[in-house]
Amino acid sequence: PCPHYRRLREAGPLALSSSGVWAITGHRLCGQVLRDSRFGVRTVPYQRDAQGPLEYQQGAEEDFSVLGLDPPDHGRVRKLAAPAFRPKTMASYRPAIERVTYELLDRAADLGSFDLMAELAAPLPIRVIAELLGVPDEYSGPFRDYGAIVAKSIDGSPSAMNVPELGAATRALEELFAELLTRRAREPGNDILSQIAADHAADRISPREVLALCRILLIAGFETTVNLVGNGMLALLNDPEQWAALNARPELATAVTEETLRYDPPVQATIRYPRETVHLAGRRIGAAEPMYVLTGAAGRDATVFADPDRFDIRRPARADHLAFGAGPHYCLGAPLARLEGEVFFAAVPARLPRLVRDGPAVRRPMMALRGLARLPVRAG
Ligand code: HEM
Repeated sequence: PCPHYRRLREAGPLALSSSGVWAITGHRLCGQVLRDSRFGVRTVPYQRDAQGPLEYQQGAEEDFSVLGLDPPDHGRVRKLAAPAFRPKTMASYRPAIERVTYELLDRAADLGSFDLMAELAAPLPIRVIAELLGVPDEYSGPFRDYGAIVAKSIDGSPSAMNVPELGAATRALEELFAELLTRRAREPGNDILSQIAADHAADRISPREVLALCRILLIAGFETTVNLVGNGMLALLNDPEQWAALNARPELATAVTEETLRYDPPVQATIRYPRETVHLAGRRIGAAEPMYVLTGAAGRDATVFADPDRFDIRRPARADHLAFGAGPHYCLGAPLARLEGEVFFAAVPARLPRLVRDGPAVRRPMMALRGLARLPVRAG
């Protein structure tokens, strides 16, 4: 069990952290705040530009992706991307996800000893999202390189951010997207960018929102699904009994995905700001005071999950962890991440049944996100 979460939890489901910021560890209270319209994702409301109804006065570094917007703009932009993540559309992605997964696994099997993060966990979500967005092969190198730099910034920790490098990569990425969207507007395909290009042409989304939406769809999977795969494999390989259970019943892959999301989620926390003074769990919280919603700690709340510090893929199925958030900003890509997890955790025992750890795993120093830099393994 994480000592920081335990210490905070001892002070109640809502407590002041040692740095003087509100921290919520209780599962119920985390969910309540994420669903409560008195809390927003911005400290100050943005102002609309008088000339263009959909343009904003803030600087270019502001986040105008769905994750950075409050109502009413949030709902409008989110609705435009939602069709790409509907169950029916999702099912059509499965063959592409399986193809990418098995290609990566076959290559890794030939290597014998390899770093699971570099060979499997990182390339899988990047190749999948590039394919779904409709990024042509000749662009995939620059998208991957600039995307990796921009994706690091979603962690929120100053150490993850090299500001000039981030600014340059963001602009380069936006130029690439602008070019691709123009191409897709002329020759639409069956991909997410073609649909966004059509919405843009219909004036339902501003140029700045278009680029921010493309950017978040690209990077959201980079720094999250990679850690679903890495954290899940680490937990499985650390417990031979669980790994044997998955080998015997690959249909437990869905349970591995959900249990990893509860036990060691890629996103450990998010932040919300009350728009007005609020009273919560007996505390008075002033308007705009930052509140850390510790969704990772919520997954270890013993009043909700029995024996919460144990990783156990045979727990009775339930998906009410908060690994994908809750409320209006609930992860748009959750069905995609779940599908990638299910395909991956079923494919690994099929291709690499004797996989074992082969040296120390190295954690990445991060703030809101949690994952590994390296996980050395041997195909056995
Ligand atoms: C939002 C987690 C994969 C797209 C979120 C949020 C969480 C999250 C916790 C809410 C943040 C908040 O409320 O402040 C995860 C995890 C993933 C994952 C753990 C993988 C295991 C993906 C993928 C995509 C994606 C693959 C898309 C390709 C998004 C988008 C939002 C979001 C667009 C913003 C939604 C909104 O603001 O309305 N994600 N995510 N995510 N995620 Fe994911």
